[in-house]
Amino acid sequence: MISSRLRNLLDIAKRLPIPPRAGDGGLQTQHAPWPLPQPSQQLVDELKSAFEQVMISDLSITEKHLPLTRNKLAHLNPAKSPYGLPISYYPLLECSRFTLAVFAMPRGSIIPLHSHPEMLVLSKMLYGSINVDSYERLDDHLSDIPTSTSSTSKQSIITNFKGRITMTPENTTSLLSPRSVLHRFSSPEMPSAVLELLFPPYGQPGSSRYCTYYKEVSGGLPDQPITTLSPINVDDDFSCFYEQDIQPLQDLHQYLTQQYSS
Ligand SMILES: [Fe+2]
Repeated sequence: MISSRLRNLLDIAKRLPIPPRAGDGGLQTQHAPWPLPQPSQQLVDELKSAFEQVMISDLSITEKHLPLTRNKLAHLNPAKSPYGLPISYYPLLECSRFTLAVFAMPRGSIIPLHSHPEMLVLSKMLYGSINVDSYERLDDHLSDIPTSTSSTSKQSIITNFKGRITMTPENTTSLLSPRSVLHRFSSPEMPSAVLELLFPPYGQPGSSRYCTYYKEVSGGLPDQPITTLSPINVDDDFSCFYEQDIQPLQDLHQYLTQQYSS
């Protein structure tokens, strides 16, 4: 039912440690488990190798489906948002250990700079060309983890701008280490899509692994890498829609959920 490359990736991903269940994000009190269980370097290396081998054909997507965003949202005016047209999110497997999903970006769209607290993120371009700006957090990233009653951090943070890479058909993968990393995706030239594996998965608002969006206040340049970022609310400008309109992806999602969710 699924390709050997995809099966191999999932078999390795199933060996990832299960994050604490209490309180969704695992940090509802100061005495909650922290840091989260980390996979061994050998497991990360195996995961990265298997992830790099997965191809768009392993998702049962063919030319006739591309770009995934082609028939949607043409009536919307991208000029109304600084981030362009909305992103399409296609879940493949959302389990307790990790999330595997496709993010499809219309031409000219941007996924704003956002956090992946204590998460490992593997990204692989499926088609198109995507610029990835990455930042590594430098200050005490535990100091402003939201409590159960607040949804996001309200504090500015100090980061190191790690630079920009362009994911192309020749340079297709990106790995964010699990130490408070942030990134921004932009697809200025053409429609694009990335396959992503997030370990552990994001939590709900108020958890320690909730996604926070940021803007640069200072720095962010190759000659000025130390960058201050302030949290922003993008609710009015940025949308990422949960989509189920591509049948092969929907079928794969159902199959993987049945086979691998335990
Ligand atoms: Fe991300």
